[in-house]
Amino acid sequence: MSTNKIDVAIIGASGYTGLELLKIIINHPIFNITYVANSEGNISVSALHPSLKGVFEMTVSKADTSEIIKKATVVFLALPHQASMGFAKQLINLDSDKKLKIIDLSADYRLELATYEKHYCPHEDALNLPNAVYGMPEFYRDAIKQANLVANPGCYPTASLLALIPFLEYIDENSSVFIDAKSGISGAGKKLSDATSFVSVSENMTAYNPFKHRHTPEIIEKAKLVGNKNLKINFVPHLIPVTRGMLVSVYVSLNQKIDSKKVLEDFYKNEEFVRISNTPVDIKNTSGTNFCDIFVAQNGDDLFINSSIDNLLKGASSAAVVNANLMCGLEENCGIPKIAYVP
Ligand SMILES: NC(=O)c1ccc[n+]([C@@H]2O[C@H](COP(=O)([O-])OP(=O)(O)OC[C@H]3O[C@@H](n4cnc5c(N)ncnc54)[C@H](OP(=O)(O)O)[C@@H]3O)[C@@H](O)[C@H]2O)c1
Repeated sequence: MSTNKIDVAIIGASGYTGLELLKIIINHPIFNITYVANSEGNISVSALHPSLKGVFEMTVSKADTSEIIKKATVVFLALPHQASMGFAKQLINLDSDKKLKIIDLSADYRLELATYEKHYCPHEDALNLPNAVYGMPEFYRDAIKQANLVANPGCYPTASLLALIPFLEYIDENSSVFIDAKSGISGAGKKLSDATSFVSVSENMTAYNPFKHRHTPEIIEKAKLVGNKNLKINFVPHLIPVTRGMLVSVYVSLNQKIDSKKVLEDFYKNEEFVRISNTPVDIKNTSGTNFCDIFVAQNGDDLFINSSIDNLLKGASSAAVVNANLMCGLEENCGIPKIAYVP
């Protein structure tokens, strides 16, 4: 390890979130990439990602836990669920004094066991699951600082929970909350499918898995844990014909009179990466950044809360680096992108 630097491994470097991790960490003043891997290895970073040619070069390895342990102290797992816990389990249960700090971008450590197994697959690391901290600094900052395993939140839950949670104390228990969410196609990862092919998505829009998307239980569980409120979440995601970006519209009914804009401003007054907007938000102004922009409008007792994030950044990779910063005792904003891809 070079002086003052912290050695970092990125597993899943050939994927969309893996590329975003590379881009952020290449410019990070403290983190130093010492190991990158995917499922096959034996290729260079620039062959995988031509946009990085002349910027960063390293051989991509076939992911191997003993190499990760030798070469890194911080490990980002940018892998599909199930594959992630296979690696995390071995890395956590190291028979060594070296304590790795692991940030898992998949769903494997986000949910309680029964909820996970109902919506994903049998869990292979139930022992470590309770030790994972949900990596949303707005609500779990102190716990993240102490954690060795952080479950990075899903993209839809990030945009939805940041919009919803400030208003939970003004909503009745068990009330219905409607969340209409729209995501760019990169949210589905790089694997080709009919649903995400150019012909299907170009000049088109569609809802998918209405009320049944796997991020619904994550929103319900965290609203309960953070806001102590059981809610009936009606979550409907849509694919929209853009590469990146996520726009969420939450509709709720209040049980008392409030100044909703003031509630939002007070709630997030100390949060650098949540910006309150005077006008409905859009995806362009958060694209390329770790910001979540939020707008609220009130019609009597009814609220429209509108949030925007970059699904690949605040919804995945920049949030993961924020978590790593906190776990390593660095400033939360160290090396975190703030300038949007506008125009
Ligand atoms: N995309 C988003 O907006 C987003 C947002 C939040 C969270 N996430 C979550 O983040 C994770 C990564 O998503 P993504 O969109 O980056 O996926 P992706 O584009 O499909 O990339 C997946 C990566 O995992 C690697 N991989 C798969 N199985 C592996 C194995 N057994 N060993 C080593 N490497 C393996 C792939 O390597 P190969 O190239 O060799 O196959 C690839 O690098 C997923 O769990 C996803 O749900 C994604």
